[in-house]
Amino acid sequence: PGLPLADRLGRPLRDLRISVTDRCNFRCGYCMPKQVFGKHHEFLPHADLLSFEEITRLARVFTGLGVEKLRITGGEPTLRRGLESLIEMLAQLRTPDGRELDLTLTTNGSTLVKKATGLRAAGLKRLTVSLDGLDDAVFQRMNDVGFPVADVLAGIRAAQDAGLGPVKVNMVVQRGVNDGEILAMARHFRHSGVVLRFIEYMDVGATNGWRMDQVLPSAEVQRRIAAEFPLVQLSHSAPGETAERWAYADGGGEIGFISSVTQAFCGDCNRARLSTEGRLYTCLFAHRGHDLRGLLRDAQPVSDDQLAGAIAGVWTGREDRYSQLRGTAAAGAEPRVEMHYIGG
Ligand code: GTP
Ligand code: 5AD
Ligand code: SF4
Ligand code: SF4
Repeated sequence: PGLPLADRLGRPLRDLRISVTDRCNFRCGYCMPKQVFGKHHEFLPHADLLSFEEITRLARVFTGLGVEKLRITGGEPTLRRGLESLIEMLAQLRTPDGRELDLTLTTNGSTLVKKATGLRAAGLKRLTVSLDGLDDAVFQRMNDVGFPVADVLAGIRAAQDAGLGPVKVNMVVQRGVNDGEILAMARHFRHSGVVLRFIEYMDVGATNGWRMDQVLPSAEVQRRIAAEFPLVQLSHSAPGETAERWAYADGGGEIGFISSVTQAFCGDCNRARLSTEGRLYTCLFAHRGHDLRGLLRDAQPVSDDQLAGAIAGVWTGREDRYSQLRGTAAAGAEPRVEMHYIGG
């Protein structure tokens, strides 16, 4: 296929998010509510998951189509056994003109005290940790498994010590649930080298019971922070970036706002998502994916060129822009893919 590849809205393919497991040891209400993902919930059987070889082969084909950034997601990706070997394999990949890829991972931080050094040694460059508050009562209510804040903070420190920097921290803000934690989080991570990012609570999936009145617009989050710590805006560091970047005027470091609800960023969205079982999704809010595992496991072996052709066909037909259409009839009413399955 001819490069550069563009979808129907002229957007290139640059970023591939790879989900390596649908399991998680947390039960955040906005992602895997316990009522739905209880003791008897059945996760994917191991044979359905893409193997590390299959993931690496697909990632290589994707780099041939313009992908320059790989993000490993889950569920909780560090629960996938042997994840370090996958990182090692992916770290070998290069762009067609020989550049290294931006290789990163999004984790809940619960395993980092044990795993940060090994992940760094395997070739991971940086990572993002999710943390929704500093108060144990608030955070434990949100993760719903009683996981303590201190252990996530220790994980963040372990990642920094291992050289996995700059570490980013994602805080999903839910009005009335953890918006009281915004300032404490800002204060805590100023001058720490961590880039804290506030995410508007999104209507991903079909199980979190999302309501607009639980969204605290980023503009309000920013107003609360700026009242205590003046902020200056930074320019985008990469096209298609999710976050608006700001810095503390006093040199306290960078923070970000991811405002998918109040300021959709579909216009230059260059992200594709590969699910745990090898389906390609062209939007976080997609209703269905395109089966790539079937091609990989076909009795008639397919070549890398054929795989590239299939992926290019999906991408060139893409016209997703859910966040811009949210609330209109054009957004569609079919159930959307779940966040823990597609990795956010
Ligand atoms: P960096 O490259 O480190 O800036 O990471 P990132 O922002 O691409 O990834 P991360 O996993 O940290 O995502 C941050 C938040 O943005 C998560 O809540 C994601 O679900 C959300 N997000 C990421 N990509 C998209 C997207 O394409 N659309 C929407 N609506 N939200 C997204
Ligand atoms: N809205 C916004 N962000 C979410 N995440 C998970 N579910 C939601 C949601 N409903 C976040 C996680 C993680 C990132 C990948 O997505 O907290 O930081
Ligand atoms: Fe697990 Fe992350 Fe979903 Fe929370 S948001 S349940 S940590 S995958
Ligand atoms: Fe991209 Fe879909 Fe998110 Fe818009 S809603 S930014 S198209 S993933």
